[in-house]
Amino acid sequence: MTNLPMHIGIIMDGNGRWATKRGLPRNLGHKQGIKAIEKTVIACKKFNIKYCTFFAFSTENWKRSKEEIDGIFNLLREYLRKEDNVFLKHKIKVASIGTLEKFPKDLQDALYEIKEKTKNFNDTCAIFALNYGGRDDIVRAVNKLIQKGYNKIDEELLLKNLDTQDIPQPDLVIRTSGEMRISNFLLYQMAYSELYFPKVYWPDFNERYLKKCLDIYQKRNRRFGGLN
Ligand code: IPE
Ligand code: IPE
Ligand code: MG
Repeated sequence: MTNLPMHIGIIMDGNGRWATKRGLPRNLGHKQGIKAIEKTVIACKKFNIKYCTFFAFSTENWKRSKEEIDGIFNLLREYLRKEDNVFLKHKIKVASIGTLEKFPKDLQDALYEIKEKTKNFNDTCAIFALNYGGRDDIVRAVNKLIQKGYNKIDEELLLKNLDTQDIPQPDLVIRTSGEMRISNFLLYQMAYSELYFPKVYWPDFNERYLKKCLDIYQKRNRRFGGLN
């Protein structure tokens, strides 16, 4: 395939509705959502996508019940610790953006371990946005620069000090579940991303849906403010 996105950002939405529609507790939707991440990661590698960022927990998601939040953390921890997890099995590098201090220590450890174990893989990188907010990212970058002594900055410098650092800006941002908003995802980095809002709830997402997203992306005409 030619003209592929180098970096895809995914706002994984609809886990709760997927479960509620089936009369199941919301956390079963999150559980199924993890399986969709697994399928998507494998498909990204197959389609030669270099970076895929998964919005897994926003700076606003702390507003949810303790039960739901703990459920999400338990699922993530359990999953990252699995011996035969998708990242080791398929040689996928794991990275994260967002601040992790507010997460339980054992979840932070599990994440650190998987990052270490996968750091030398370089085909596909799965980036997890955890306690991530686009505004928080920008504010932390500015504070970092103030601390470094800058009193004047430019766009390039700001970009390099965001959590994404050297990762290219997303070419394509997908939000599942039919909601058409950004919900504080990669705000600065998304300035020129192509956007696509498939109706499918995240737990049902798979290789076939990703292929559809790629087909749609390939038909877009990216002009970046120019003409053609
Ligand atoms: C997205 O699914 C997952 C997270 C935000 C963690 P939701 O939990 O937002 O699902 P809906 O939007 O309630 O269906
Ligand atoms: C966005 O989904 C955050 C993640 C997918 C992690 P939300 O379900 O939290 O967004 P809103 O509240 O509908 O905007
Ligand atoms: Mg939602």
